[in-house]
Amino acid sequence: MALQRTLIDRDHDHSEPALPPGLRDLYDGDLSFRISPAERPFVIANFVSTLDGVVSYEIEGQAGGSTISGSDPADRFIMGLLRASVDAVIVGARTVHDSSPQSLWIPEYTYPDAKHLYAEYRANVLHKSEYPLLVVVSGSGKLELERAIFQTPGVRTVVMTTSAGRDELTRAGATKLPTVQLHALDTSAGTIAPSAILRLLCEELGVARLLHEGGPTLFGQFMASGAVDELFLTLSPQIAGRTSGTMRPALVQGVEFMPACAPCFQLVSVKESADHLYLRYQRAD
Ligand SMILES: NC(=O)c1ccc[n+]([C@@H]2O[C@H](COP(=O)([O-])OP(=O)(O)OC[C@H]3O[C@@H](n4cnc5c(N)ncnc54)[C@H](OP(=O)(O)O)[C@@H]3O)[C@@H](O)[C@H]2O)c1
Repeated sequence: MALQRTLIDRDHDHSEPALPPGLRDLYDGDLSFRISPAERPFVIANFVSTLDGVVSYEIEGQAGGSTISGSDPADRFIMGLLRASVDAVIVGARTVHDSSPQSLWIPEYTYPDAKHLYAEYRANVLHKSEYPLLVVVSGSGKLELERAIFQTPGVRTVVMTTSAGRDELTRAGATKLPTVQLHALDTSAGTIAPSAILRLLCEELGVARLLHEGGPTLFGQFMASGAVDELFLTLSPQIAGRTSGTMRPALVQGVEFMPACAPCFQLVSVKESADHLYLRYQRAD
């Protein structure tokens, strides 16, 4: 039975079913993606936001997306489905720090009930490895290596960092962890360019489809570099509010656009469950 109801579906590329029947039923429709037109992976983003655009309450222990979504089952199912659809998931270091030490960016971690459906889809339809690669971006290399993402057999994690970050991680023992790879990239003022990350993912790690799971700082840089092809946005029916003394981030932080060149998206689909909306957008060409 579907976890959410489709209200609008403008994706006309459903000539052949893409999802296996069990997932199509739960999603209330099909889901397929275009091939990236450029020499880089196709980039899909997934966020949950309040009605007033907040993606994190910035309160310790309650900073993550599940506080915003209220652990909504359909949001969690879609997150798992998107993870199941890609070669790699990318996150910024702060999103990792603010998650539970047990967190894994694999499909069934977010929606265990569909574990077998996700696995069948990856293995038999997409012919992808058991789990997507996790890509963590950290300039400083200050990451807690006891986290499950660095210690779980079968879960591969790549850290994209600076040369100082690589030294920090090497000192902490990261090179001894069998499932962890470090890549030091060139930086400008400690910041790695999204284009360099995407090039490495495409050319050296075979990533054709990438899921961006934030946070807003890393996502803002990808948005500014024109490297976001699709956005899945869950709208949660609550208002977080802001004061001048609190920094509750929106989807994009650290960059701003002028009206004439603000990135624009086209609505592809709208789904609903109770008071939540699940929006899918594609970058307008
Ligand atoms: N509602 C949602 O859907 C959603 C989704 C994702 C995240 N969140 C929330 O958003 C909050 C985190 O967001 P955020 O924007 O503060 O953090 P973020 O983007 O997750 O992480 C920022 C950190 O990532 C590293 N980084 C980012 N861009 C880099 C670059 N170009 N080069 C090198 N390093 C780079 C830096 O790490 P170092 O400091 O190690 O150098 C930086 O401090 C968390 O509370 C999280 O739970 C919400």
